[in-house]
Amino acid sequence: MRLRNVKNAKEIILNNEMVIKNPEKFKKNFKSIFHNSNEIHIEIGTGKGKFIYEMALKYPSINFIGIEKYASILVRALEKCENPLPNLRFLCIDAKNLEEIFDHEISCIYLNFSDPWPKNRHAKRRLTSPLFLDIYENLFVDTKKIIQKTDNLILFASSLKNLNNAGYKFEDISLDLASTDIENIETEYEQKFKKQGIKINYLNAIKK
Ligand SMILES: C[S@@+](CC[C@H](N)C(=O)[O-])C[C@H]1O[C@@H](n2cnc3c(N)ncnc32)[C@H](O)[C@@H]1O
Repeated sequence: MRLRNVKNAKEIILNNEMVIKNPEKFKKNFKSIFHNSNEIHIEIGTGKGKFIYEMALKYPSINFIGIEKYASILVRALEKCENPLPNLRFLCIDAKNLEEIFDHEISCIYLNFSDPWPKNRHAKRRLTSPLFLDIYENLFVDTKKIIQKTDNLILFASSLKNLNNAGYKFEDISLDLASTDIENIETEYEQKFKKQGIKINYLNAIKK
C-alpha cells in the first residue's frame, strides 16, 4: 500500500478510543476490552479498514481487532469507522510482535491481500511463512483458523504449501472467489483488482 505520511498520525491514534493502547497489559485478558467472552478475530494488515469494519457490523457477536503496522494507514481506517462499534478495536503493531500481545485468545486470523514478497529471498517476510505460522500457534485459543485472500499466485502457492506442512487442513480453496458461493466482504484492494478483472484466490485453513 502506498504510504502517504499523515501529519501527527501517532498522536491521532493515541487519542482514538478504538485503538488499544499498551496492548501488552491486556495479554490473556483481551475479553476485558470487549466486556464479553465472545470469540476474537483479527485481520493482520488491515489497511484502510473496510473489511474489518463491515465484518464487525455484520457479526456483532464476534469481537474484531484490525492490526496495522503503519500509523498513517491506520488513521485512514479510523476515519472509515463513522460510528465506534463495541465489537471493533485496532492495534498499531507489526505482526512479528503478536506473541507479546496475545496468548491463546484468538479464534480466527484474516490475511487479506498481504504484501506478496514474490522474490524467493524475501519469502520469510510473507505472512504465511513458517516463521509467522509459528508465531500464530501461540495466539489461537484452541482450533486454529486462517482465512486468506490474495491476487498473487506466488504468495497463494507458498501459503498452501506452508499451511499444509504446518498441519492445517483446507476447508475451502478457490482460484476464483467470485465464482463460488463463499460469503465474502470485499476489501479495498479486492475492489481494485476486481475492477481490473483479476481473479481472487481464497483459502480457509483449519488446524485442530
Ligand atoms: C496490500 S495492503 C492490503 C490492505 C487491506 N487488507 C486490503 O485488502 O485492502 C497490506 C497491508 O498490510 C500492512 N502490513 C504489512 N506487513 C505488516 C505486518 N508485518 N504487520 C502488520 N501490518 C502489516 C501494510 O502496511 C498494508 O496496510
